[in-house]
Amino acid sequence: MAVFDAGGSLWAGAPPEGAALAQARRKAELILSTWAADGIDAAGLGADDLGLDPAWITKTGAAAGVPLVVTNLQCPGLSAAPSLRLERGGKSALILGLWSEGAYASGCTASPPAAAAAAALVADQAAHGGQAADLVIVLSQLIEDEVPAVARTVPALDLFLDGKGSPSTPEPRPVSPSALRLSSGSRGKVLGIATIRWMEGADGLAPLDAGEALDKRRERIAQRITSAERQAAGATEPAARARAEERLAYLREELERASAPVAGAGGARSGLSLRLVGLGADIADAPQAAAALSTAKAEIEAAGAAATPSAPRVGGPFAGAAACAGCHPGPHAQWATTSHAGAWTTLVDAQRSMDLACWGCHATGARQPGGPAAPAEVGALGGVQCEACHGPSAAHAANPASTRPLRAPGVEVCVRCHDGAQDGGRFDAATYLPKVGHGTAAAPAGG
Ligand code: HEC
Ligand code: HEC
Ligand code: HEC
Ligand code: HEC
Repeated sequence: MAVFDAGGSLWAGAPPEGAALAQARRKAELILSTWAADGIDAAGLGADDLGLDPAWITKTGAAAGVPLVVTNLQCPGLSAAPSLRLERGGKSALILGLWSEGAYASGCTASPPAAAAAAALVADQAAHGGQAADLVIVLSQLIEDEVPAVARTVPALDLFLDGKGSPSTPEPRPVSPSALRLSSGSRGKVLGIATIRWMEGADGLAPLDAGEALDKRRERIAQRITSAERQAAGATEPAARARAEERLAYLREELERASAPVAGAGGARSGLSLRLVGLGADIADAPQAAAALSTAKAEIEAAGAAATPSAPRVGGPFAGAAACAGCHPGPHAQWATTSHAGAWTTLVDAQRSMDLACWGCHATGARQPGGPAAPAEVGALGGVQCEACHGPSAAHAANPASTRPLRAPGVEVCVRCHDGAQDGGRFDAATYLPKVGHGTAAAPAGG
């Protein structure tokens, strides 16, 4: 067995800065250390990862003991193996990390991938007494359309592990007559388990299921041949015998076609099957990983809480729910029963309230003019309060006649937070809207 990450798991998004960079690095360090604890054999990098700074990744990856493989990317401060040989159960695998040619963040540039792969193969073979590896695996940062071209130009490449975060697909996809591409999605949410059935003397890989389907087809044709032979032998009428002979000839041709190598010309392929395992809450963390995770969370919470707020919390354009309660007791009472009221507590309990990837949707007015710009500034604006839906209303609370908050916030307001991704796609306007409404039955107490 061997374990890989094809890259792009350390950071997603624009290069972080300041407090966000510190937090992103703390998380990346956690990921690298848990990979190492899990015995990862090789990891690639992704374009967004580079925003953490290649020199920092080099240092932190080395400290954790994660073998980074990058074949055709040059970056100031990046040092990673251009290729890596693994030996498992009498078989050898060569690991490469290929990028599409071009310029990337942090001053990185990638050279043409096919040429770099070919050169790495030559160097590896020379370093191993002329012996080529049994299997060549690419940790791929190639843009999707380029994979088949690289696979055809360098036929020795067998397997492309997708590190670009394409949606996970349960099928290994052929990208050339002898190479496959595997995708298990992005952000470490799905583990892809590939099993290879070696065929001696085989050249490259084909989906195992295709091979099994063919086996079954061959069996069926063979059975039909047997019965056609019986018919032909038993036929007394010359016309019937001719028909049986004709059918027999056709079936024999079919069998020949079904016995041709799985993926076209060039010999037989070893078979590969893929299984995807969603790493949800139902799969417990390893004790060591769980301990590292809770340490990292505690550190991030403490660092966030220690940050000095630089903006006023309540009293700017946002008044906070307490300021509305007196005049709108009905809506306030209804709101207090919804999970919106406790959305900040949810994060605090999960030790994620200072997490810059979390706080914005679990607080009111986050990153809006006059609202909290950082989690340390949330104060009394924690949770999804009135003004998250009705808009900033301090002026209205001070003098109700002066301005009118939005009367009936619609779906366009909800989907800022119920974004279809972070919420697991659970939002359903028809069932969700009635749960938050608190209409005319709760008219303003003051009239
Ligand atoms: C001092 C009393 C008072 C306070 C405090 C107050 N409101 Fe109002 N609010 C009113 C009155 C009175 C109206 C009705 C205005 C009208 O119909 O002319 C109103 C109307 C509204 C409406 C309906 C607007 C419409 O067009 O029908 C919303 C929504 C609202 N308030 C939200 C809030 C929010 C949110 C807060 C807290 C930030 C708040 N109010 C604080 C008195 C208040
Ligand atoms: C500022 C972000 C934000 C906005 C805007 C927002 N929500 Fe939410 N909503 C949340 C969060 C966060 C939760 C989860 C709270 C928790 O469990 O701690 C939530 C939970 C809910 C729930 C409870 C789901 C459940 O079954 O537990 C409903 C219903 C809901 N929202 C409906 C709405 C509707 C309808 C709107 C628009 C009118 C809306 N929300 C606007 C952030 C938001
Ligand atoms: C884009 C907005 C958004 C961001 C960012 C966000 N959340 Fe939420 N969160 C929601 C919404 C919306 C819900 C309610 C989903 C529902 O029940 O329909 C929710 C619900 C939750 C819940 C309770 C329900 C559940 O799914 O278990 C937890 C816990 C939670 N979020 C934690 C987090 C953490 C941790 C982060 C950061 C990694 C985060 N959230 C970032 C919008 C967000
Ligand atoms: C998740 C979004 C959301 C939050 C949070 C929210 N409201 Fe509303 N509110 C609505 C929607 C949607 C309507 C209009 C639909 C309805 O009348 O039921 C509404 C209507 C109102 C109205 C107008 C009622 C009327 O008679 O027409 C008032 C006043 C109001 N809200 C006040 C508040 C106050 C005060 C809070 C905080 C304590 C609050 N709302 C929190 C979504 C929200």
